[in-house]
Amino acid sequence: MRMLSVILTMMTSVAAAHAAVSHADFGKLPDGSPVTIYTLKSPQVEMRVMTFGARVVSITTPDRNGKQADVVLGYDKLEDYVKDNKTYFGVVPGRYANRVANGKFTLDGKEYQLSVNEGTNTLHGGKDGFDRRNWTGKEIPGGVEFTLVSPDGDQGFPGKLTAHVRYTLQGNKVAIHYSATTDKPTIVNLTNHTYFNLTGAGSGTILNEKMTIYADKMTPVDAKLIPTGELKPVAGTPFDFRKAETIGARINADDEQLKLGKGYDHNWVLNGKMGTLHPAARVQDPASGRVLEEETTEPGVQFYTGNFLDGSFSGPNGKYDFRTGLCLETQHYPDSPNHSSFPSTELKPGQTYSSETTWTFSVEK
Ligand code: GLA
Repeated sequence: MRMLSVILTMMTSVAAAHAAVSHADFGKLPDGSPVTIYTLKSPQVEMRVMTFGARVVSITTPDRNGKQADVVLGYDKLEDYVKDNKTYFGVVPGRYANRVANGKFTLDGKEYQLSVNEGTNTLHGGKDGFDRRNWTGKEIPGGVEFTLVSPDGDQGFPGKLTAHVRYTLQGNKVAIHYSATTDKPTIVNLTNHTYFNLTGAGSGTILNEKMTIYADKMTPVDAKLIPTGELKPVAGTPFDFRKAETIGARINADDEQLKLGKGYDHNWVLNGKMGTLHPAARVQDPASGRVLEEETTEPGVQFYTGNFLDGSFSGPNGKYDFRTGLCLETQHYPDSPNHSSFPSTELKPGQTYSSETTWTFSVEK
């Protein structure tokens, strides 16, 4: 009897370490396919993710007084997500997150032309990127796994790619694991495009939040937001976030890079070692006390301050205006296929692309 109760206690504590997971219907896409929404719930965090775009829909956490708020930008209805093909709220962009110049790259001597959807660039995988796909979802312990098969030639990319994204929650930590395999040499770069506002979605700008980015260098861009290839030291520039700085303090400085990005919309070269988890960024919100720490196995992070948000989309708590959300897109550097000096984004048959990013939520008094 005593033994049984010891075993039961052990089983309960193991079970308690994982978030509780449930799922529900979230409506149908215009083509009739059903969308499923998953809820991951731990004592500290409640997170919802859905099959359409393999995206984060909401993350609710307490502030320093225990008051709950949803800290990511999003909508409460599927039709609003379908209408919005601009913001990439919460999605997993793919097959290549961020930009490929002129939608062109060469692999094993052959040039490929991708679907172009931002001037002459391919942004976030092209017109019909992974963000517009209804992934297959399945519950796993403490989370959900989404799967997408992208056929050979999809948006111009070579090779049939099978991609998996796993979201899991344990206590106050969300882990996102990405993996992919291919049947022909191809390129892959996956990330998550969640917009955070630690005071709460719809509460105003993110300019008073404090940012740390664990990077000595960044990749400056040209007028089309394509990296020039240079790795530029951040020291002495508005891009130096090695010590916590208020986001708005220098965002309007007379700086060529800030003008090109209409604010921060750049890739930082992380100091940590690629392939093992290392700190990417830390955001601290003086208003609510909420803190977000991000770690990743990726070599870079795109810090984007919502400079293209213009109030044309609204969520349950108000309008999504200029700079009311921030993204921390862990990734390989933009346009890597056209820069042989950048870490490679090639994936060959027999190899497995694998990448992990974690978000840890806490409060400071
Ligand atoms: C990324 C890009 C931005 C913008 C957003 C989506 O963060 O770097 O320039 O395109 O996606 O609006």
